[in-house]
Amino acid sequence: MRTSGPASGPSDTPDFRTAAHRLTDWIEAYRVRLTNLPVLPRVQPGDVEAVIPPRAPESPEDVESILADLDETIVPGLTHWNHPGFMAYFASSASDPGILAEFVTAALNVNAMLWRTSPAATELESRMVDWVRDFVGLPDVFQGVIQDTASTSTFVALVAARGRAVPGVRELGLAGRSELSGCTVYASRLAHSSLDKAAIAAGLGLVNVRHVDVDERYAMRADALHEALAQDRDDGKRPVMVCATVGTTSCTSCDPVAEIADVCSLHDVWLHVDAAYAGPAASLPELRPLFDGWERADSIVLNPHKWMSVPIDCSVLMGRNLDEFRSSLALTPEYLSSDTSASNLMDVGIALGRRFRGLKLGFVFRWYGAEGLREMLQRHCDLAREFAAEMAADARVEVAAPVPLSTVCFRAIPPAGHSEEDWNRRLLSAVNREGTIFLSHAELDGRFTIRLTIGSVHTERSHVEAAWECLTKALEHLQSDPATAR
Ligand SMILES: Cc1ncc(COP(=O)(O)O)c(C=O)c1O
Repeated sequence: MRTSGPASGPSDTPDFRTAAHRLTDWIEAYRVRLTNLPVLPRVQPGDVEAVIPPRAPESPEDVESILADLDETIVPGLTHWNHPGFMAYFASSASDPGILAEFVTAALNVNAMLWRTSPAATELESRMVDWVRDFVGLPDVFQGVIQDTASTSTFVALVAARGRAVPGVRELGLAGRSELSGCTVYASRLAHSSLDKAAIAAGLGLVNVRHVDVDERYAMRADALHEALAQDRDDGKRPVMVCATVGTTSCTSCDPVAEIADVCSLHDVWLHVDAAYAGPAASLPELRPLFDGWERADSIVLNPHKWMSVPIDCSVLMGRNLDEFRSSLALTPEYLSSDTSASNLMDVGIALGRRFRGLKLGFVFRWYGAEGLREMLQRHCDLAREFAAEMAADARVEVAAPVPLSTVCFRAIPPAGHSEEDWNRRLLSAVNREGTIFLSHAELDGRFTIRLTIGSVHTERSHVEAAWECLTKALEHLQSDPATAR
């Protein structure tokens, strides 16, 4: 019998255990039926909210009715990120150890804001960052913390870079300081929008984000970066940070980090590397050259919640000198002061409260071993290359960009008289409506481009074959009735 108020002691254990077992069964059943569910839900905005009671229940409800609502209301309204056919954006999949670790994390519910509010969570987090660093072959000088997302990681890196470039900014801010005449940041025009957002939030302003030109492989041109920096210096601007991307969001192009590092040294600018998606692939010797030079960065972000099967949220931010992060953001009110020399995670970021994110990373590493993770990454890259080869052999479609990792960008070639963009938009919506797979799109050279990315721990060869079948069927349907197939 469940107590009516939130219970506080072992007295609620039997009930908790029954519910936990029931929930395990529910999760298992969900996983089994997941493959047969459409990846995208068939709901309209407002449908789910309309069936959720507008007020919280006055009396306790039993676990069966809570689970029934999961089945009836929540699951049908979800986009299933754990579906093996989820091939949109970049995957974020929850592996078995990741799910189990999240369960434990909630049970422990520690807040690792200070070392003393959770010594083990603080120290495990730091050790897990070391494991990631070694896994991807970076030198020991890098240390770091786990943030919620790459957007936060890049923002924190930008604030640290701003602190180096603009002495006194912590106290004085940027506003109204005419002597600064603009603090600038640089990234390729394919860089993720989180950098632009960081520039907004850090007070630099979008007008000071330089979107550097790319070459024919969509990689930043180091010579164009050099020119932009030189011009800005001449104009009295203060360059704060260069962000090189390994694995851009639209087509996974890789900026030449070593050349960019040379330019950064010349101009004495902070180098941040955004490897949010691609980072784990540095563990594969064959792909290592894509990352050449990232060991010279001041900061690096990579997201285990993207391509390492760690459930969201887990973004590793590494820095060459964490003290620069601390000096830009650490602030300790009296009530948080403690008399230990240990470092506190709250000092490297915005948030005070911090989830115990290191645990799920540790579970995943130990469950699969580094070897198992490398195998998964390799499998995904092989599958993507095979998919691209299949496309290249089909006259109805074209591969739109090189495939250095596990993402394939492509376009269907429209019949004469049809707009390329309209044809591809229709193809994409037909595929996504069908339910087996979920693909997303990007813009490359001003052209609408479809992307298929393989990064889920649940995606096997059969799912990629099903994706190809789904695409070709949708294409045939479109071709059989080009005017009306919508
Ligand atoms: C290259 C890159 N950087 C940053 C991000 C932002 O990631 P997050 O959702 O963790 O903020 C993304 C998202 O896909 C990305 O592709």
